[in-house]
Amino acid sequence: MGLDEAAVKPLERLAAYLAGDLDRVGRLIAERMASEHAPRIPEVTAHLVGAGGKRLRPMLTLGAARMMSYEGENHIRLAATVEFIHTATLLHDDVVDESRQRRGRPTANLLWDNQSSVLVGDYLFARSFQLMVETGSLRVLDILADAAATIAEGEVLQLSAARNLETTEATYLQIVRGKTAALFAAACEVGGVVAGAMDDEVTALRTYGDALGVAFQIVDDLLDYGGDAAATGKNVGDDFREGKLTLPLIKAVARADDAERSFWTRVIAKRKHDAADLDRALGLLARHGAMEATRNDALAWAETARGALKTLPKNDLREMFDDLADYVVARIR
Ligand code: IPE
Ligand code: IPE
Ligand code: MG
Ligand code: MG
Repeated sequence: MGLDEAAVKPLERLAAYLAGDLDRVGRLIAERMASEHAPRIPEVTAHLVGAGGKRLRPMLTLGAARMMSYEGENHIRLAATVEFIHTATLLHDDVVDESRQRRGRPTANLLWDNQSSVLVGDYLFARSFQLMVETGSLRVLDILADAAATIAEGEVLQLSAARNLETTEATYLQIVRGKTAALFAAACEVGGVVAGAMDDEVTALRTYGDALGVAFQIVDDLLDYGGDAAATGKNVGDDFREGKLTLPLIKAVARADDAERSFWTRVIAKRKHDAADLDRALGLLARHGAMEATRNDALAWAETARGALKTLPKNDLREMFDDLADYVVARIR
Protein backbone atom coordinates (compact mmCIF):
# COMPACT_ATOMS: atom_id res chain seq x y z
CA MET A 1 0.00 0.00 0.00
CA GLY A 2 1.40 3.38 -0.95
CA LEU A 3 0.84 6.63 0.89
CA ASP A 4 -2.77 7.53 0.20
CA GLU A 5 -3.00 11.19 -0.82
CA ALA A 6 -6.45 11.72 0.65
CA ALA A 7 -5.31 10.35 3.99
CA VAL A 8 -2.57 12.94 4.51
CA LYS A 9 -3.94 16.12 2.90
CA PRO A 10 -5.79 17.77 5.82
CA LEU A 11 -2.63 17.49 7.90
CA GLU A 12 -0.56 19.03 5.11
CA ARG A 13 -3.06 21.84 4.65
CA LEU A 14 -2.91 22.67 8.34
CA ALA A 15 0.91 22.49 8.29
CA ALA A 16 1.01 24.85 5.29
CA TYR A 17 -1.38 27.29 6.95
CA LEU A 18 0.69 27.30 10.15
CA ALA A 19 4.06 27.11 8.36
CA GLY A 20 5.49 30.32 9.86
CA ASP A 21 4.57 29.33 13.41
CA LEU A 22 5.69 25.73 12.91
CA ASP A 23 9.04 26.91 11.69
CA ARG A 24 9.53 28.89 14.87
CA VAL A 25 8.44 25.93 16.97
CA GLY A 26 10.96 23.75 15.13
CA ARG A 27 13.76 26.20 15.87
CA LEU A 28 12.80 26.45 19.52
CA ILE A 29 12.72 22.65 19.82
CA ALA A 30 16.15 22.35 18.18
CA GLU A 31 17.55 24.96 20.56
CA ARG A 32 16.13 23.40 23.73
CA MET A 33 16.74 19.73 22.97
CA ALA A 34 20.51 20.22 23.08
CA SER A 35 22.74 19.98 26.13
CA GLU A 36 26.27 21.29 26.51
CA HIS A 37 27.06 18.98 29.39
CA ALA A 38 26.00 15.53 28.25
CA PRO A 39 26.65 14.72 24.58
CA ARG A 40 24.41 11.65 24.73
CA ILE A 41 21.40 13.96 25.02
CA PRO A 42 21.74 15.73 21.65
CA GLU A 43 22.67 12.40 20.03
CA VAL A 44 19.44 10.77 21.14
CA THR A 45 17.19 13.82 20.62
CA ALA A 46 18.63 14.51 17.17
CA HIS A 47 17.97 10.90 16.21
CA LEU A 48 14.33 11.03 17.25
CA VAL A 49 13.48 14.63 16.42
CA GLY A 50 15.47 14.50 13.17
CA ALA A 51 13.22 11.64 12.04
CA GLY A 52 10.36 14.12 11.97
CA GLY A 53 7.03 13.00 13.30
CA LYS A 54 3.71 14.43 12.22
CA ARG A 55 3.83 17.39 14.67
CA LEU A 56 0.14 16.94 15.17
CA ARG A 57 0.02 18.07 18.82
CA PRO A 58 1.92 21.34 18.32
CA MET A 59 -0.35 22.06 15.36
CA LEU A 60 -3.34 21.64 17.68
CA THR A 61 -1.92 24.23 20.07
CA LEU A 62 -0.98 26.67 17.31
CA GLY A 63 -4.24 26.12 15.47
CA ALA A 64 -6.40 26.52 18.58
CA ALA A 65 -4.60 29.77 19.49
CA ARG A 66 -4.98 31.12 15.96
CA MET A 67 -8.61 30.02 15.76
CA MET A 68 -9.18 32.24 18.80
CA SER A 69 -7.35 35.13 17.06
CA TYR A 70 -4.20 35.02 19.19
CA GLU A 71 -1.49 37.49 18.15
CA GLY A 72 1.17 36.99 20.84
CA GLU A 73 4.25 34.76 21.20
CA ASN A 74 3.39 32.24 23.88
CA HIS A 75 1.67 29.76 21.60
CA ILE A 76 5.11 28.97 20.11
CA ARG A 77 6.48 28.04 23.55
CA LEU A 78 3.39 26.00 24.34
CA ALA A 79 3.50 24.11 21.06
CA ALA A 80 7.15 23.23 21.72
CA THR A 81 6.24 22.22 25.28
CA VAL A 82 3.57 19.87 24.03
CA GLU A 83 5.91 18.27 21.47
CA PHE A 84 8.58 17.83 24.16
CA ILE A 85 6.12 16.07 26.44
CA HIS A 86 5.09 13.87 23.50
CA THR A 87 8.71 13.06 22.59
CA ALA A 88 9.57 12.25 26.20
CA THR A 89 6.63 9.84 26.42
CA LEU A 90 7.70 8.17 23.15
CA LEU A 91 11.21 7.54 24.53
CA HIS A 92 9.75 6.02 27.68
CA ASP A 93 6.99 4.17 25.81
CA ASP A 94 9.42 2.40 23.50
CA VAL A 95 11.34 1.10 26.52
CA VAL A 96 8.16 -0.13 28.19
CA ASP A 97 6.87 -1.68 24.94
CA GLU A 98 10.32 -3.00 23.95
CA SER A 99 9.72 -1.46 20.53
CA ARG A 100 12.35 -1.60 17.84
CA GLN A 101 11.09 0.90 15.29
CA ARG A 102 9.84 4.50 15.60
CA ARG A 103 9.39 7.12 12.89
CA GLY A 104 10.91 4.72 10.38
CA ARG A 105 14.14 4.42 12.38
CA PRO A 106 15.45 1.98 14.95
CA THR A 107 14.31 3.11 18.43
CA ALA A 108 16.71 4.87 20.80
CA ASN A 109 16.47 1.95 23.21
CA LEU A 110 17.70 -0.31 20.44
CA LEU A 111 20.45 1.99 19.15
CA TRP A 112 21.68 3.09 22.59
CA ASP A 113 20.02 1.41 25.58
CA ASN A 114 17.03 1.60 27.93
CA GLN A 115 18.95 3.74 30.39
CA SER A 116 19.64 6.42 27.80
CA SER A 117 16.01 6.48 26.65
CA VAL A 118 14.67 6.83 30.19
CA LEU A 119 17.13 9.55 31.17
CA VAL A 120 16.88 11.56 27.96
CA GLY A 121 13.09 11.28 28.27
CA ASP A 122 13.38 12.74 31.79
CA TYR A 123 15.53 15.52 30.41
CA LEU A 124 12.93 16.40 27.79
CA PHE A 125 10.20 16.43 30.44
CA ALA A 126 12.24 18.86 32.50
CA ARG A 127 12.88 21.03 29.45
CA SER A 128 9.14 21.07 28.76
CA PHE A 129 8.52 22.42 32.29
CA GLN A 130 11.04 25.21 31.71
CA LEU A 131 9.31 26.19 28.49
CA MET A 132 5.84 26.33 29.99
CA VAL A 133 7.08 28.35 32.96
CA GLU A 134 8.34 30.95 30.49
CA THR A 135 4.76 31.70 29.52
CA GLY A 136 4.15 33.01 33.05
CA SER A 137 0.68 31.45 33.15
CA LEU A 138 -0.15 29.30 36.16
CA ARG A 139 -3.32 28.13 34.44
CA VAL A 140 -1.34 26.73 31.53
CA LEU A 141 1.08 25.08 33.95
CA ASP A 142 -1.82 23.47 35.75
CA ILE A 143 -3.29 22.06 32.51
CA LEU A 144 -0.02 20.64 31.20
CA ALA A 145 1.19 19.26 34.55
CA ASP A 146 -2.18 17.55 34.85
CA ALA A 147 -1.83 16.09 31.35
CA ALA A 148 1.66 14.76 32.11
CA ALA A 149 0.39 12.98 35.23
CA THR A 150 -2.63 11.59 33.36
CA ILE A 151 -0.43 10.22 30.54
CA ALA A 152 1.67 8.34 33.09
CA GLU A 153 -1.48 6.97 34.75
CA GLY A 154 -2.75 5.74 31.39
CA GLU A 155 0.52 3.99 30.62
CA VAL A 156 0.60 2.33 34.07
CA LEU A 157 -3.04 1.29 33.80
CA GLN A 158 -2.25 -0.30 30.44
CA LEU A 159 0.69 -2.14 31.98
CA SER A 160 -1.62 -3.65 34.60
CA ALA A 161 -4.20 -4.62 31.97
CA ALA A 162 -1.70 -6.32 29.63
CA ARG A 163 -2.43 -10.00 28.99
CA ASN A 164 -5.71 -9.79 30.88
CA LEU A 165 -8.42 -11.20 28.61
CA GLU A 166 -11.12 -9.82 30.93
CA THR A 167 -10.17 -6.24 30.00
CA THR A 168 -13.33 -4.35 29.06
CA GLU A 169 -13.92 -1.65 26.49
CA ALA A 170 -14.46 0.76 29.40
CA THR A 171 -10.97 0.04 30.74
CA TYR A 172 -9.50 0.38 27.25
CA LEU A 173 -11.16 3.77 26.93
CA GLN A 174 -9.78 4.86 30.29
CA ILE A 175 -6.29 3.85 29.16
CA VAL A 176 -6.57 5.66 25.84
CA ARG A 177 -8.00 8.80 27.39
CA GLY A 178 -4.99 8.85 29.67
CA LYS A 179 -2.06 7.85 27.52
CA THR A 180 -3.09 9.69 24.35
CA ALA A 181 -6.19 11.90 24.59
CA ALA A 182 -4.98 13.80 27.67
CA LEU A 183 -2.21 15.47 25.68
CA PHE A 184 -4.43 16.13 22.65
CA ALA A 185 -6.98 17.77 24.98
CA ALA A 186 -4.35 19.82 26.81
CA ALA A 187 -2.71 20.87 23.54
CA CYS A 188 -6.02 22.33 22.32
CA GLU A 189 -6.99 23.76 25.69
CA VAL A 190 -3.77 25.73 26.28
CA GLY A 191 -4.07 27.20 22.78
CA GLY A 192 -7.47 28.60 23.79
CA VAL A 193 -6.29 29.71 27.23
CA VAL A 194 -3.26 31.58 25.92
CA ALA A 195 -5.53 33.38 23.43
CA GLY A 196 -7.83 34.51 26.27
CA ALA A 197 -10.82 32.53 24.98
CA MET A 198 -14.05 32.38 27.04
CA ASP A 199 -14.50 29.43 29.41
CA ASP A 200 -17.08 27.67 27.21
CA GLU A 201 -14.78 28.02 24.20
CA VAL A 202 -11.86 26.56 26.14
CA THR A 203 -14.08 23.68 27.18
CA ALA A 204 -15.13 23.10 23.56
CA LEU A 205 -11.50 23.03 22.45
CA ARG A 206 -10.67 20.57 25.21
CA THR A 207 -13.60 18.33 24.27
CA TYR A 208 -12.48 18.40 20.64
CA GLY A 209 -8.92 17.40 21.60
CA ASP A 210 -10.07 14.62 23.88
CA ALA A 211 -12.37 13.04 21.27
CA LEU A 212 -9.79 13.52 18.50
CA GLY A 213 -7.16 11.84 20.68
CA VAL A 214 -9.39 8.84 21.38
CA ALA A 215 -10.15 8.45 17.66
CA PHE A 216 -6.45 8.82 16.86
CA GLN A 217 -5.40 6.08 19.28
CA ILE A 218 -8.17 3.71 18.21
CA VAL A 219 -6.92 4.05 14.63
CA ASP A 220 -3.34 3.60 15.82
CA ASP A 221 -4.44 0.32 17.36
CA LEU A 222 -6.14 -0.68 14.11
CA LEU A 223 -2.96 0.11 12.19
CA ASP A 224 -1.06 -2.24 14.47
CA TYR A 225 -3.11 -5.07 12.93
CA GLY A 226 -3.80 -3.82 9.45
CA GLY A 227 -1.18 -1.17 8.76
CA ASP A 228 1.95 -1.01 6.71
CA ALA A 229 5.25 -0.55 8.56
CA ALA A 230 6.62 1.51 5.67
CA ALA A 231 3.79 4.01 6.16
CA THR A 232 3.45 3.99 9.96
CA GLY A 233 7.20 3.91 10.64
CA LYS A 234 6.51 1.33 13.36
CA ASN A 235 6.47 -2.47 13.46
CA VAL A 236 3.11 -4.03 12.70
CA GLY A 237 1.87 -6.70 15.14
CA ASP A 238 3.71 -5.30 18.18
CA ASP A 239 0.53 -4.99 20.27
CA PHE A 240 -0.38 -8.61 19.55
CA ARG A 241 3.08 -9.90 20.44
CA GLU A 242 3.06 -7.90 23.68
CA GLY A 243 -0.34 -9.22 24.69
CA LYS A 244 -1.90 -5.75 24.65
CA LEU A 245 -5.69 -5.76 24.86
CA THR A 246 -6.52 -3.11 22.28
CA LEU A 247 -10.03 -2.49 20.97
CA PRO A 248 -10.03 -4.87 17.96
CA LEU A 249 -8.82 -7.67 20.21
CA ILE A 250 -11.27 -6.90 23.02
CA LYS A 251 -14.12 -7.11 20.51
CA ALA A 252 -12.89 -10.39 19.04
CA VAL A 253 -12.34 -11.94 22.48
CA ALA A 254 -15.87 -10.94 23.53
CA ARG A 255 -17.24 -12.84 20.51
CA ALA A 256 -14.95 -15.87 20.81
CA ASP A 257 -16.22 -19.46 20.98
CA ASP A 258 -14.48 -22.01 23.22
CA ALA A 259 -11.78 -22.97 20.72
CA GLU A 260 -11.02 -19.35 19.96
CA ARG A 261 -10.92 -18.52 23.61
CA SER A 262 -8.25 -21.13 24.26
CA PHE A 263 -6.28 -19.67 21.35
CA TRP A 264 -6.47 -16.18 22.90
CA THR A 265 -5.54 -17.58 26.29
CA ARG A 266 -2.41 -19.16 24.84
CA VAL A 267 -1.24 -16.24 22.72
CA ILE A 268 -2.35 -13.29 24.87
CA ALA A 269 -2.66 -14.43 28.47
CA LYS A 270 0.30 -16.85 28.30
CA ARG A 271 2.10 -15.05 25.48
CA LYS A 272 3.15 -18.32 23.88
CA HIS A 273 3.04 -17.80 20.16
CA ASP A 274 4.71 -18.76 16.95
CA ALA A 275 5.03 -17.06 13.57
CA ALA A 276 1.66 -18.29 12.26
CA ASP A 277 -0.39 -16.95 15.18
CA LEU A 278 -0.63 -13.33 14.00
CA ASP A 279 -2.29 -14.56 10.81
CA ARG A 280 -4.72 -16.67 12.79
CA ALA A 281 -5.49 -13.70 15.02
CA LEU A 282 -6.13 -11.55 11.94
CA GLY A 283 -8.47 -14.24 10.63
CA LEU A 284 -10.46 -14.20 13.87
CA LEU A 285 -10.64 -10.40 13.90
CA ALA A 286 -12.02 -10.53 10.37
CA ARG A 287 -14.45 -13.32 11.18
CA HIS A 288 -16.04 -11.32 13.98
CA GLY A 289 -15.98 -8.01 12.12
CA ALA A 290 -13.77 -6.62 14.88
CA MET A 291 -11.77 -4.31 12.61
CA GLU A 292 -14.89 -2.81 11.11
CA ALA A 293 -16.58 -2.38 14.48
CA THR A 294 -13.45 -0.69 15.81
CA ARG A 295 -13.31 1.65 12.85
CA ASN A 296 -16.94 2.57 13.48
CA ASP A 297 -16.08 3.48 17.06
CA ALA A 298 -13.25 5.70 15.77
CA LEU A 299 -15.68 7.36 13.36
CA ALA A 300 -18.10 8.06 16.21
CA TRP A 301 -15.32 9.71 18.25
CA ALA A 302 -14.33 11.79 15.24
CA GLU A 303 -17.96 12.89 14.98
CA THR A 304 -17.93 13.89 18.66
CA ALA A 305 -14.79 15.91 17.99
CA ARG A 306 -16.42 17.70 15.08
CA GLY A 307 -19.54 18.37 17.14
CA ALA A 308 -17.46 20.18 19.76
CA LEU A 309 -16.29 22.68 17.13
CA LYS A 310 -19.80 23.96 16.42
CA THR A 311 -19.79 26.70 19.08
CA LEU A 312 -16.33 28.02 18.12
CA PRO A 313 -15.69 30.97 15.79
CA LYS A 314 -16.32 30.06 12.17
CA ASN A 315 -13.00 30.55 10.38
CA ASP A 316 -10.33 28.73 8.34
CA LEU A 317 -8.87 27.03 11.35
CA ARG A 318 -12.16 25.69 12.57
CA GLU A 319 -12.70 24.23 9.12
CA MET A 320 -9.24 22.66 9.15
CA PHE A 321 -9.83 21.17 12.59
CA ASP A 322 -13.05 19.74 11.20
CA ASP A 323 -11.13 18.12 8.32
CA LEU A 324 -8.53 16.88 10.78
CA ALA A 325 -11.18 14.74 12.44
CA ASP A 326 -11.72 12.98 9.09
CA TYR A 327 -7.99 12.64 8.55
CA VAL A 328 -7.48 10.98 11.92
CA VAL A 329 -9.82 8.14 10.97
CA ALA A 330 -8.55 7.84 7.36
CA ARG A 331 -4.87 8.10 8.22
CA ILE A 332 -2.43 5.37 7.33
CA ARG A 333 0.63 6.66 9.18
C1 IPE B 1 2.46 8.16 18.47
O1 IPE B 1 1.92 9.41 18.13
C2 IPE B 1 1.95 7.78 19.82
C3 IPE B 1 0.50 7.57 19.84
C4 IPE B 1 -0.32 8.27 20.57
C5 IPE B 1 -0.08 6.49 19.03
P1 IPE B 1 2.13 10.03 16.66
O2 IPE B 1 1.67 9.06 15.65
O3 IPE B 1 1.52 11.38 16.66
O4 IPE B 1 3.72 10.14 16.58
P2 IPE B 1 4.65 11.01 15.66
O5 IPE B 1 5.03 12.20 16.51
O6 IPE B 1 3.92 11.40 14.42
O7 IPE B 1 5.83 10.13 15.39
C1 IPE C 1 1.02 5.71 22.74
O1 IPE C 1 1.28 4.47 23.16
C2 IPE C 1 0.92 6.69 23.90
C3 IPE C 1 2.18 7.15 24.45
C4 IPE C 1 3.32 7.09 23.84
C5 IPE C 1 2.14 7.75 25.80
P1 IPE C 1 1.40 3.22 22.18
O2 IPE C 1 2.42 2.31 22.75
O3 IPE C 1 0.06 2.67 21.92
O4 IPE C 1 1.89 3.90 20.84
P2 IPE C 1 2.97 3.43 19.79
O5 IPE C 1 2.30 2.39 18.95
O6 IPE C 1 4.14 2.92 20.53
O7 IPE C 1 3.27 4.68 19.00
MG1 MG D 1 4.34 1.84 22.16
MG1 MG E 1 2.72 1.83 24.78
